[in-house]
Amino acid sequence: MLQGKLITLDEFTIQETRKFPQATGELSSLLRDIALAGKVINNKVRTAGLSDVLGKQGSSNIQGEEQMKLDVLADETLIHVLKGSTDCAGIASEENDDHVSYEDTFSANSKYVVLFDPLDGSSNIDVNASIGTIFSIYRRVSELGKPCTEADFLQAGNKLMAAGYIIYGSSTMMVYATKLSVNGFTLDPSIGEFCLSHPNMRIPENGKIYSLNQGNTIKYSEGMKAYLNYCMESNKEEGRPYSHRYIGSMVGDLHRTLIKGGIFIYPADKSSPKGKLRLQYECNPMTFIVEAAGGIGHCGYERVLDVQPTELHQRVPIFIGSKNMVNKALEFVKEEVAAG
Ligand code: AHG
Ligand code: MN
Ligand code: MN
Repeated sequence: MLQGKLITLDEFTIQETRKFPQATGELSSLLRDIALAGKVINNKVRTAGLSDVLGKQGSSNIQGEEQMKLDVLADETLIHVLKGSTDCAGIASEENDDHVSYEDTFSANSKYVVLFDPLDGSSNIDVNASIGTIFSIYRRVSELGKPCTEADFLQAGNKLMAAGYIIYGSSTMMVYATKLSVNGFTLDPSIGEFCLSHPNMRIPENGKIYSLNQGNTIKYSEGMKAYLNYCMESNKEEGRPYSHRYIGSMVGDLHRTLIKGGIFIYPADKSSPKGKLRLQYECNPMTFIVEAAGGIGHCGYERVLDVQPTELHQRVPIFIGSKNMVNKALEFVKEEVAAG
């Protein structure tokens, strides 16, 4: 049952912009363009089984990962929609080797660049489980009026203007954060609009769910193995043992973590000594969102948002989620992290 006024994503961002007299509305307009790309991708995801877009593309991305047809379609959709936007100077994507700078006059004069993981959780596409699109928006550091440069895309997460994700789950939602707040919008397919459904999202300080690929345990450090034991030990006062949930789609696992509380970990391990997940496309935006909602994102050695990127496709370990759970997990790994 509907209660109160229906607020669309557009109305909401315009209202937010009005709180800042110096704001030009470019960020709202860019969010509208990203939402448009999200709706196009949603349409492809929702009918995937009918339109020959399931399965592998037959190519690999720069990181040597096999691309799915929908990875490529989502990537092309975002690149195309943002090229047509008047507020985006260029993009960088998990699926492309280098950044793309849009060279028309409007784009060259735009102050923002966008980074994205066009489709996160690709291994879930063919089995109809939750997948998502993750995006980050930075104010460019290169000269306005000229094409954007790689330096615009190698900014630390603490310079983010906004970040968000679109989750193609049992319903489709867009969640986006600025430093001020995190808000969630559910797509109403009958009117084609994202409408405010989860205002001012806050992540619980504690949780009862741990989320990681437990099948990798044999490759984990001793500290990580000890933390896993802690999660599985019985302790009535602290509400343990915790439950384990792992979809294998960071967006899906973190959307649950944001709402219910918990911890999500992709640590460094013997086969991925630097971690698996990508700083610029996955860890920074998701940390920005979780921290704006009151949680923590940490690499074990440094706050995720303080890592200075040196390359576009860099990977980092990540411990992210409810404040108290992340701090506890970090206690288990801090000595070995300090020892290198
Ligand atoms: P992507 O589909 O964009 O390549 O990302 C997959 C990521 C992330 O979403 C997920 O948490 C993780 O990889 C799963 O990795 P494992 O299969 O190694 O657990
Ligand atoms: Mn991903
Ligand atoms: Mn991806």
